Amino acid sequence: MIKMREKIKKLVESCKGELIELRRHFHAHPEPSFEEYETTKLIAQKLKEYGVDEIKVGCGGKASGVIATIRGLFDRPMIALRADIDALKMKEENQSIPYRSQNEGVMHACGHDAHIAVLLITAKVLAQLKGELPGSVRLIFQPAEETAAGAKEIIKAGGLDGVDAIAGLHVWAYLPSGVLGFRKGPFFAAVDRIEINVKGKGGHGAAPQFAVDPIVMASNIVLALQTIVSREVDPIEPAVVSICKIEGGTAFNIIPEEVKMVGTIRTFSPQTRERVVKRVEEISTNVAKAMRGSVEFIDYYSTPALINDPNFTEFAASVARDLFGERSVVEADINMGGEDFSLYVEKVPGTFFLLGTGNKDKGTDKAHHNPYFDVDDDALPIGVELFANIVFEFLRGGKR
Ligand code: NI
Repeated sequence: MIKMREKIKKLVESCKGELIELRRHFHAHPEPSFEEYETTKLIAQKLKEYGVDEIKVGCGGKASGVIATIRGLFDRPMIALRADIDALKMKEENQSIPYRSQNEGVMHACGHDAHIAVLLITAKVLAQLKGELPGSVRLIFQPAEETAAGAKEIIKAGGLDGVDAIAGLHVWAYLPSGVLGFRKGPFFAAVDRIEINVKGKGGHGAAPQFAVDPIVMASNIVLALQTIVSREVDPIEPAVVSICKIEGGTAFNIIPEEVKMVGTIRTFSPQTRERVVKRVEEISTNVAKAMRGSVEFIDYYSTPALINDPNFTEFAASVARDLFGERSVVEADINMGGEDFSLYVEKVPGTFFLLGTGNKDKGTDKAHHNPYFDVDDDALPIGVELFANIVFEFLRGGKR
């Protein structure tokens, strides 16, 4: 195994230039969720060039995304590696980098450009070692992570068929460059999005007695919802209920017909999640009723919490410690953000981990989704080396 490790290390080193070039190319050409057409084309082209066996373009009902497979000596076991490939609809402000976005109003501000490059080069390395691979590798290039809509399509398209375990990584500006963060069990929160229409009866602002005022109703609902986390959820359970957008009314003297509210619920345990979602509905409905109005839930979507498999996480962390030393591996903090990798680990054991890319001197310590966000490219070979070693150790039935 030591020999394989050295082989992988050499291959990764020989690909470093291409890895950085690819990352910067994707950074300069970002595409938003489910519109990753050029990104998809280049991914498929590179996989073909690297000698990957099966390459399926598109997923579910969508034209973007790639599901590919490297067939080793046996079909099983099979391990999947996942990269998300979408960018955000925002303007890049960092004019000092030569590879800044060329697509106006779209930016790789979360580091998914790095995820694509890391997985592509991992595929290149593994394809060269195919003759020694005691199993197979599924490569998942997932569209639309930012809208939490892509993982569903990948699963629908059979992306997890025949898969025994899965690993994914996220570059992380809040960890020093090169440091790896693992967490067993609950890691990223369950995300529920709520969109409510509060319905009243419009009228003259000077004659409220003839109207049913949805603005007063909505105001009461917002306040009443605050009691869910403070009065109904176990104080040691993380939970958030936020109404983030309210829309209603047209003029200073018109009571509108309705008010639209959009918000998010974040929780970890399924019990807490179920209770909070149920109480949001009950409280909104009944507060509106008490004030002679009604509510309509017009949109709702959710992603479950990301729960890392403890055994597989320990296995991956131990591979990382062996490769890079104890001091390069830390326990990652729990996060109220969402990540639709959660849908994969609901189906197969797996782990999602963080690769630190924060370097103040290089200016790569800006927050994710910040218009100056950038990635320290020098940390990326670590991701490739770790992915490739996790694959080999897992397939040969090593430390599990
Ligand atoms: Ni992200």
